[in-house]
Order: sequence, then structure tokens, then C-alpha cells
Amino acid sequence: MKTYTHSEQKFKQSAAALAGGVSSSLRASMKPVPLFAERGQGARVTDVDGNTYIDYLLGYGPLILGHAHPGLVTAVNEAMQRGFTFGLQHQGEIDLAERLIEILPCAEKVAFSGSGTEAVMLALRLARAYTGRKKIVRFHGHYHGWSDTIFTAFPSADMKAETEGGAGDQEVLPGTGGQSEISLQEIILLPWNDPEALEKALREQADEIAAVITEPVMCNNGCLTPQPGYLERMRELTAELGIVLIFDEVITGFRLGLGGAHERFGIKPDLMTMGKAMAGGIALSAVAGSSQLMDLIEGGQVSHLGTLNGNGIAVSAALATLDILGENQGEAFVKMEQAAATLAEGIRERLRSHGLQGVVNQLGPVFHMMFIDREDVSSFAEFSERDSALYFEFAEQMLEEGVLIRPNGLWYVSTAHSEEEIRETLEAADRALQALASRRGVQEGSRR
Ligand SMILES: Cc1ncc(COP(=O)(O)O)c(C=O)c1O
Repeated sequence: MKTYTHSEQKFKQSAAALAGGVSSSLRASMKPVPLFAERGQGARVTDVDGNTYIDYLLGYGPLILGHAHPGLVTAVNEAMQRGFTFGLQHQGEIDLAERLIEILPCAEKVAFSGSGTEAVMLALRLARAYTGRKKIVRFHGHYHGWSDTIFTAFPSADMKAETEGGAGDQEVLPGTGGQSEISLQEIILLPWNDPEALEKALREQADEIAAVITEPVMCNNGCLTPQPGYLERMRELTAELGIVLIFDEVITGFRLGLGGAHERFGIKPDLMTMGKAMAGGIALSAVAGSSQLMDLIEGGQVSHLGTLNGNGIAVSAALATLDILGENQGEAFVKMEQAAATLAEGIRERLRSHGLQGVVNQLGPVFHMMFIDREDVSSFAEFSERDSALYFEFAEQMLEEGVLIRPNGLWYVSTAHSEEEIRETLEAADRALQALASRRGVQEGSRR
């Protein structure tokens, strides 16, 4: 049995000084206790009790190169030596902007910020300023950060609020206490992957809608892929009706390929947001898109602000991350995708062999595992039927087996995960599922 005594002690100590005991509310849900990290190297992270885990949480996504990649560490150290932020311009910003324009099909111009939330804020402002309209279409189960005008009740297992998936005319509930009551009045919330609902809403309210914002793959809740033709239809309709199409690629960017989901699917949004993997774990995000929209910043119609925007450390980290990911024609993506596919298939087999019902949805180096009484999960309404409590139990059991996963079901794979680590993970999953199955058997037996 692993012990978590030091994490428990630190969590108590932390809660006395740090509001909620953690630095981002999601982290508080971890069982048996929010772990405290000591260090990370490659695909492994060690906690303050000396337990080492193969890491699929990966800092909630940014660590696409794993922990402390030497190339990234060197780049950041060099940036530190040169002086890390100037409030002046520097060559690195130009290099990174040019690089992004080269690799992202939709990027004609770029603007940097610090978090995904900020990038989304900027993209929405650009869309509203460009169209002179106010409403934003977003979808059930997608997450676009926690700013007032876009944060709706977020139905994920490791978030508090629960909401129903369904039609677009229901009340849009705020994601948190303290959110301005009028902040969501301009949001139209629709079911995703439903072209008819989209077309109806867009045609009915076209002259009020500034933007449609979507995760191109619904990574945050179920890793649901777009049905064939859905994103294409979204592109056609928005183009026809003069609505700005925003792909929120904070998760898919630099993960489903160097050019993100929009390159992979061959669809050009007007704007895209990116963050997480972009700088391998250093805070950096960006908006990219057509010059027509991005030039509203140059013209001064839209303010783009942020003290640390484009700082030397973040920019150097991104340049190094993109260099490493791009080596040998991007073979890292092939390797990560193979590793994720092996894991996903291995977990499906083990679910079956232990008589547990579940689904694993995988695309590229990211997948969602869920316990659910279905053969497949392709809509948010279906995803909402999953047994989140059982998954929490599984995540806790996986810690015991030396594997760190997010308690909501989303797994990330990095370039650092070796074949040996994938094999070890599947063995761990086998033992954890076995433990779950026998506990369930005992419970069912005792009910009879
Ligand atoms: C799709 C998407 N957009 C935006 C965000 C917000 O990014 P950040 O947490 O960096 O503010 C996230 C975070 O998980 C995300 O998944």
C-alpha cells in the first residue's frame, strides 16, 4: 500500500494559507488527497512521499515533451541568462510569430497572451469588433476558460456543477458563484455535432451572432470527434452568414499534429486559440487568424494587453518545443499517436476481460476513458450517462499501481512515454480493473 502522509500534511498546511489548498479549483478533487509533487523527469513524476508515477495528467496537458525535457530546459535557462522580460519587443517574438504562421494553416497574424482563457477573451473581442454583433454560439460540454462571458456550468467529473445536455433554448447557467448575472446573456448554447440545430440557430439569429466557438474535437468531455461533415458544415454556414468561426485549439493545438486539428481536418477557421502544449509547460497562449481580423489590433479597435505577453522565457520555450516536435518530419506525433492507440486498445481489452463496461475514445495522443453501459459514446448526452464515481475509484486505484491519471477520464500522452512505460501502464490498468471488478462482485454478492 502506498502512503500519502506527506501530501496529506502539506494539503492541511496549504489549506491554511492558500485558498482552497490548491492553485486551480479542479485540482482539489483528487483522491485520496491532492498530491504534492517533488520532481518530474520524462514521463514520470515523484510525489513528496517518494511515490513515483507514470504521468498521464501531464500538468493538465501542457507537458507534451514530458517533464524537464533537456532541450526545453536549456532553452529556458538561456532565456533566463539573457534577461527574461523587457516590456520591449525582442527577436524571439518575431521568430515565434513567423514560425506559427508557417505551421498553422489559418494563421496570417498572431497575438500572444499568457493563458488559454485570455486567448479566448481576445478571440471573442476580435469577433465582436469585426462583425459589430454581440452573440456567441458555444456548445454543451466544451470548455473555453473561466472568464465571465464564456464560463458556463461545466459538466465534468472533477468540476462541481452538473448540467443537462440538450436543446439550445435552455437557460445558460454560470460556471461559478460571483459571475456577473448578465455575463452569459449573449451566449447561445447548442448541442454539439448536431448540424440541424446549428443551422437553425445561425439562420434565425445571424444578424446578431458574432462568432461560433468550438473545440474541434470535444476533448474536455469525452474526446468526441466531429461527425463526418459537421465542421465542414459549420465552416460553410459561418462563411455564408458572415459569422466568425473560432476553433479553440488549446488542447488540440500542437497535439493532433504540428498544425493542430484544423490542419488535420483540412478546415480553416477565421481565428484559432492555442495554449497548453505550445510552450511545453511554460505559460503562453496565442490567437492566430486572418489578417482582416487580427489587424483590428493594429488599428487600435481592439486592445490586446498583458504585462508578460511575449516574454522571453515563454517565447524561447515555445520555439524549443516546436523545434523538438517538428524534428524528423514530426515523427514524434506518429510515436505519440501509436502509444495512445496501444493504450486505448489495451484498456478496452482489459475492460472486457474483467467484465466491466466502458468506452475509450481516442484521437491522436489524447483519449477519454469512461465507465458506461454503452458500446460507444458520440454525443454529450451519452457521455453524461457515465459512472464518474467509479472512474474516481479507478483513478485512485491507478495511483496505487503507480500511474497518475486525471480523475475525469482524460489521458494525455507525451513524447517521453516509452513502449516499456506503455506496457507497464497496461499491466497497472489490468490490476486496477481487476481490483474494481472484484470489489463490485463483492458488493453485488452482498446485495443478493
Ligand atoms: C479548450 C480549452 N480552451 C481554453 C482553456 C483555458 O485555458 P487555461 O486553463 O490556460 O486558461 C482550456 C483549459 O483547459 C481548454 O481546454
